[in-house]
Amino acid sequence: MFRQIAVIGSGTMGAGIAGQIANAGHEVLLLDLPGETAPNAVADAAVERLLAADPPALMEPAVASRIRTGNTRDDLGELAGADWVIEAIVERLDVKRALYARLAEIVPADCVVTSNTSTIPIRLLVEDMPEAFRGRFAITHYFNPVRYMRLLELVRGESTDEAVIERLAAFNDRELGKGVVRCEDTPGFLGNRVGVFALQVGIDEAIRNGLSIETADALMGRPMGIPKTGVFGLYDLIGIDLMADVVRSLSAILPEGDAFHAVGGESPMIERMIADGLTGAKGGGGFYRRDVDGRRLARRLAEDDYVPVSTEPSARVLAATRAIAERGEPLTGLIEGGDAEARFCRNVLGRVLGYAASLLGEVTESPQAIDDAMKLGFNWVRGPFEMIDALGSERVARLLVESARTDVDAAGGTSADAPAEGTNVPAALRDPRPFYSVPGGNVGRDGADGGAEADGDLGDGADPRAGRTLHVRLASGAVEPVRLPEGVVRFHLARRALTPLLENEAASLFAIEGDLRLIEFHSKANALTDESMAVVAAAAADHGAGVLVHNDAQHYSAGVDLNAFLALIDDGDFDGIDAFLARFQRAVADLKYCPVPVVGAPSGLALGGGFEVLMHCDALVVHANSVLGLVESGVGLLPAGGGVKETFLRWCAERDAGAAAWKSWMNLGYGATGSSPALAERLRYFRPGIDASVMNRDRLYGAGVARLRELARGYLPPTPPRATLPGGDIRARMRAFMDEGVERGDFTAHNRTVALAIGSVITSDTEEAIEVDENTLYERERAAFVSLARTRETRAAIAALLGVD
Ligand code: NAI
Repeated sequence: MFRQIAVIGSGTMGAGIAGQIANAGHEVLLLDLPGETAPNAVADAAVERLLAADPPALMEPAVASRIRTGNTRDDLGELAGADWVIEAIVERLDVKRALYARLAEIVPADCVVTSNTSTIPIRLLVEDMPEAFRGRFAITHYFNPVRYMRLLELVRGESTDEAVIERLAAFNDRELGKGVVRCEDTPGFLGNRVGVFALQVGIDEAIRNGLSIETADALMGRPMGIPKTGVFGLYDLIGIDLMADVVRSLSAILPEGDAFHAVGGESPMIERMIADGLTGAKGGGGFYRRDVDGRRLARRLAEDDYVPVSTEPSARVLAATRAIAERGEPLTGLIEGGDAEARFCRNVLGRVLGYAASLLGEVTESPQAIDDAMKLGFNWVRGPFEMIDALGSERVARLLVESARTDVDAAGGTSADAPAEGTNVPAALRDPRPFYSVPGGNVGRDGADGGAEADGDLGDGADPRAGRTLHVRLASGAVEPVRLPEGVVRFHLARRALTPLLENEAASLFAIEGDLRLIEFHSKANALTDESMAVVAAAAADHGAGVLVHNDAQHYSAGVDLNAFLALIDDGDFDGIDAFLARFQRAVADLKYCPVPVVGAPSGLALGGGFEVLMHCDALVVHANSVLGLVESGVGLLPAGGGVKETFLRWCAERDAGAAAWKSWMNLGYGATGSSPALAERLRYFRPGIDASVMNRDRLYGAGVARLRELARGYLPPTPPRATLPGGDIRARMRAFMDEGVERGDFTAHNRTVALAIGSVITSDTEEAIEVDENTLYERERAAFVSLARTRETRAAIAALLGVD
């Protein structure tokens, strides 16, 4: 535990780190150089930036009061009481060294000092410092934005005390919610070493294969399990000037002969863009930009001009998207064929995966460290070694060799069979064994969207709950269990050693921890379908001693699958819609009244129907960055899976019926969401004392299991509630509110229709208040939903969201 923490440097990273420390409930001192207008102007401005950040950097505005600002001229003396100082100043060795020399004079003898440097080895940073200082010095390398990027690379220097590393690892994991990956003091550590190389290869192969930037991004994005910004979109997001600096400094420190040098040289194309002020999203445009009419344009790499982005995905991208939706393997389809797209995918995968494999034994012993770095720091769905397993080492080795052969061809080589000189297949790829395996046979899919098929069978009669664990093959060839900190469970890994009790395309039901059940949603964006709800219903029947609703995807669930609704609307099948809703409602009601406790453990987006499932749980353990809410009004609908009902019942517990109806109406009409537990609490979507907030999403599973055990003692399901629907003039007031809003131009006429439909569920149809049971509320939700689904405007809103006509 650290009690007195200071961050020096209040730029992008220092401010973000201070913000996350404050988010975790700790006081923090944030220092920068003295300002021109006021002594603390620089650090004060940084706090203002945190408050204005989108997505929010702080869990609620009040968090900012935990950040005390100061400057390095007047306030360094305050560090005399510090136990951790984080340096996040400009990336210059001389400036950092000068600061450490000053710090060594001030900070107490047991104070830990860390640097956020991306590229400077510890060796150089502390070369001139006394041994005692070196012993408590490490690199803590965070990723931007600090609140949301899970990775912390923790780098130990030759002299760093092991106890210092353990302390930093524990605090960053438990308090700041980081996935800590321990790295050696090697250039670029793990994430940037592979991630920046991948970006450079993406650009290189797009140019060599003559692909447009949007085609390259469409391929080297979701289909490969990489965020949809792909290569050029990510360059724009990070900033083309910043990327140029990163590439330059990596080139400067990577050893001669490293494959990075082939793609890390100065690029006239990038230089021209920077000279023209095309520095990316912050500079008003980069590889992508908008024209005066707001149309999205893409830069043509050979011509240096812009053309409208073509939005039609290629057949290859469509096939990969389908494979992912059907939980097949998307990579194999990407690399088949003789066209430029296939060549691009083959070369990118060959070079990037080959590079990662070449680092094994050199910068880390464990493939898991690199995979973790790429998943936590770059949001890849699978790490390079999980992708190698999906394709097979031998095939990746072939792709690597062929990518070099394309080089020979491009350089005027003649024979396609010419040996590719200089392409050394890394030893790790020569071993045909998979990097990950479950001794005794893999039983589950690999859990990634579109993961590979199981590569082994569970022997007849084997107990699916037996203690199998996922193992990893190290650089040495030894196979050992995947290593995670005590109490950390990443379900996408854990599931590989489990056999589902029930599984369909959208969801699975597992037995966990001996006697518990786990419902995992795993459709595209985890959109809920009839199949998802069939698994919910099955869990409510085969409930064991408690049910956990959890998954380890980036987003727990974005809501109900609107494609299904649109199809029913277009068929005019409104009875079908009613029946779908009734099945959904029955499933969540079964969950609510299940004789054992049910706990939801979401992270990421937990919206609409996904959140309705959670509202019917006894308690939630919520990752602190989750976004909770019912957003159906945004597409002209209302939550009819018990969401209106539960929102209303929660407000009824503390207000009279009229006030409760009004509060619920505001939540639902505006589609309000809470982007942290504190903000969700204001909407009553998070209940202190019942629900709990968890900083590290890797600890959600453990917290959920513990909560289930706690609730199981003497558990009784809830008593079905009754509610009073207010009468009087409440509907007239709702109408007046909407009329005025429409008049002012704040609302459309359809907003009014939707809002009044929501109001109709939770208010009496007459001036007399009425008492209703839960079933009546379900029925009223369905009737209001179907009435909206019948409108032209709602259909148009759904179609627009789905991007169809
Ligand atoms: P930045 O340029 O946004 O901020 C640097 C801040 O340090 C400025 O506010 C500057 O006034 C202040 N500063 C400079 N010299 C100082 C001194 N002697 N004493 C006190 N304050 C001083 O830089 P950014 O991006 O926040 O980077 C900071 C560090 O984090 C660098 O080492 C960088 O390599 C590293 N890093 C950056 C990442 C990024 O995405 N921007 C990611 C991970 C690491």
